[in-house]
Amino acid sequence: MRSTVYWLFVVSVALFISGIGFVIAAARTSRQAAPAEAEAPATVPVATVKQIMAGMTQPAATAIYGAVGTVMNAQGVTEIAPETDEEWAALAAQAATLVESGNLLLMGDRPIDRGDWVTMTQSFMAAGQMALKAAQSRSTDGILEAGDVINQSCDTCHERYQRQ
Ligand code: HEC
Repeated sequence: MRSTVYWLFVVSVALFISGIGFVIAAARTSRQAAPAEAEAPATVPVATVKQIMAGMTQPAATAIYGAVGTVMNAQGVTEIAPETDEEWAALAAQAATLVESGNLLLMGDRPIDRGDWVTMTQSFMAAGQMALKAAQSRSTDGILEAGDVINQSCDTCHERYQRQ
């Protein structure tokens, strides 16, 4: 009789513990399920590659190329570079925009193929990231270097995909 009570006790403890286990497992599952319900909103590609180039890529690249350098005119030779916080922040924004234009090139049916188009876009984005880091660390040399790499990445893709 005593041992029956003992085993009933053991069994009920075991059930209690496994019950807690189920509750925890259920809570975990519902927590994991939550993000799936809140999936990223659907995006709708609108611009052509040409429009992305003309509207985002080209203006952002021009801002980066023009941010640091030497200007010669009647007044003589002037070194130009961003000086204020606002000017560096504006340059960083252009670099970030350049990188984002690369994301757009990979969206929807824009990739012309899954090979060179993707790797060339990734190199182009990495070059843009260089400019972004340089702007964030206020490195004029970094901007000049990144400008060269960006420029090459544009040419590489335009040669491959024969931009007219
Ligand atoms: C991954 C490939 C790729 C990269 C990288 C790329 N381009 Fe392009 N670009 C294209 C293609 C393809 C076209 C032609 C689009 C068309 O005519 O339909 C084009 C067209 C252009 C045009 C012409 C737009 C017009 O209105 O006719 C400009 C300007 C341009 N690119 C600038 C740039 C600059 C500047 C960079 C680098 C900062 C760059 N592109 C990087 C693929 C690329």
